[in-house]
Amino acid sequence: MDRITLDYTNALATTIGPDHGVREAELGDMQGVLSEAQQQVEGRRAKDLRWLDLPYQSAVHQDILRYAEEVQGQFENVVVLGIGGSALGNRALHSALNSPFHELSPPNGAPRLFILDNVDPDLVGEFLDTIDVTKSLFNVISKSGSTAETMSQFLIFRRALIERLGEEGHKPHVVVTTDAEAGVLRPIVQSEGYRSFIVPDGVGGRFSVLSPVGLLSSALVGIDILGLLKGAADMDKRCRLKPWNENPAMVYAAMQWILQERKDKNIAVTFAYGHRLRDLADWYAQLLGESIGKVKTSAEGKTHVGPTPVRAVGVTDQHSQVQLYVEGPFDKWFTLLEIGQHDHRVQIPTDYGDKDALAYLGGRSLSELLAAEREGTRIALTEAGRPNVSIRFPRVTAHTVGQYMYLKDYAVALMGELYGIDAFDQPGVEAGKIAAYALMGRKGFDDRAAQIQQQQDKESRTV
Ligand code: PA5
Repeated sequence: MDRITLDYTNALATTIGPDHGVREAELGDMQGVLSEAQQQVEGRRAKDLRWLDLPYQSAVHQDILRYAEEVQGQFENVVVLGIGGSALGNRALHSALNSPFHELSPPNGAPRLFILDNVDPDLVGEFLDTIDVTKSLFNVISKSGSTAETMSQFLIFRRALIERLGEEGHKPHVVVTTDAEAGVLRPIVQSEGYRSFIVPDGVGGRFSVLSPVGLLSSALVGIDILGLLKGAADMDKRCRLKPWNENPAMVYAAMQWILQERKDKNIAVTFAYGHRLRDLADWYAQLLGESIGKVKTSAEGKTHVGPTPVRAVGVTDQHSQVQLYVEGPFDKWFTLLEIGQHDHRVQIPTDYGDKDALAYLGGRSLSELLAAEREGTRIALTEAGRPNVSIRFPRVTAHTVGQYMYLKDYAVALMGELYGIDAFDQPGVEAGKIAAYALMGRKGFDDRAAQIQQQQDKESRTV
C-alpha cells in the first residue's frame, strides 16, 4: 500500500539547533494537550464536524458515479462555478491526478474541466466568447447557496444556455451542489428540476473536498474517487491513533503551533516539489489561513492569531524564493512535498559529453535532477537553521492524494484546539461578503451601505 509519510527530522533542535528547532521533549510534553484536542475533535464527529466521516458515505459516492456514467460522452466541457472551498479542492485534485495538458487532449472521451473561481469580466467574458455552452455541463457549487460571485455566474451561464437551448433544453446542462435547505439555490433546484447533490450539514466549504463538492467534477473527468476516499479513510485511522509520535496529524499540528507560538515562525511555506502538487499547496493555503487566522478572545482580551500560508513550487521557485528562504528573516517554516516515483521517465541526452557543464547531466533522468534540486534546497534550508518537514508521496495517486487531504484537514482541526480558536467559522470572509452585498444594493443591507458611503465620503489621499 502507498502510504504517505511525514519526516520531521529537520525541524528538530537536534538537527538545526535549539534557537529555531523544536525539542523532541517539547513534542512529548504536548501529548496531553494533543489527546485533549483529538478528543474534542472526535466528540464533534457525529455532530458539527461531519466532514470527518465523508470517506464513508458510500451511497453518495455511488450516486456520483452513476451520474458521471449517465452523462458520459454528452459534454465536451465541465465547468465548475464556485469559489474558495467550492473550487480550490476541485482544482487541486484535477492538477494532481490528471495530465497538465488534459484540456488540450482529454483522454478516453473525458470532458475538459474549467474552474471559473472569479468574476473578472475578462475571464468570464472570454470564456463565453471561446467555449460553446451547448457542449458544456455547469456544476454550480455553493454550500451557502448565496455567494454573490457564484450566483452571478449561475445567472450569466443559465441565461446563455436558455438563449441557445430554451427553457427546458438548458436544464440537463446544469447540476447543482448545495446545502439541503439553506440559500437560494435549493428552492431553484426544486422549481427548475435541476439535478443536484447535497453538501451535508457539518461540512464547511474548505473541509468539503471529499463531499460532492470535490467528488462530482473529479468523477466527471475520470479521477478515481473511490481510491481518493480509500486514501482518506486510511489516513483517518492514522489520525485517530493516540500516541503523538504515531499520529501524523498530531505531529504536524504540534509543529505548526510550537514553531509559531514559541519560535516566531509566522509564515508557513508549503514547497511543492512537483508540478502536479502545486494546487494542493494552494488548497492548503486556504484551509490554514481561513481556519486559523482568527481573533482570539480570552480572559486577557483579544489577540490576533494564525500563520500566514505561502505556496512555492519546486524547482521553479528555487530561482525566485529560495534566496529569501535561506538567508532572509527567521520567520518561516517549511513543508516540502516530495514525490518518490513519477509516472514518466524522461532521460537527458548525452550530447556534448566533452563539455563539463553538460556532461554530468547526460544519461541522467529528470526525476534524478528534480530530486537533487529538492535535496539541495532541503540541505540549504537545514544548514541555515530553517525548520523544515517533508511529506513524502511514494507516487501521486488518488490514494496518496486522499491521504494528504485528510491529513491536512485533521491537522487543521487539531490546530484550532491548540490555538484556542474556532477553526470552522470565517467571520472575516463574511465581513467582506456583507460589504459587497451592501455595495451592490442587496435588500436588507441598506444600513451597511450607508455606513460605507459615509466612510468613503471622508477625504482620501491618493498619489
Ligand atoms: O471555506 C469556506 O467556507 C469558504 O471559503 C467558502 O467555501 C466560500 O466562501 C464559498 O462559499 P459557498 O460555497 O457558500 O459559496
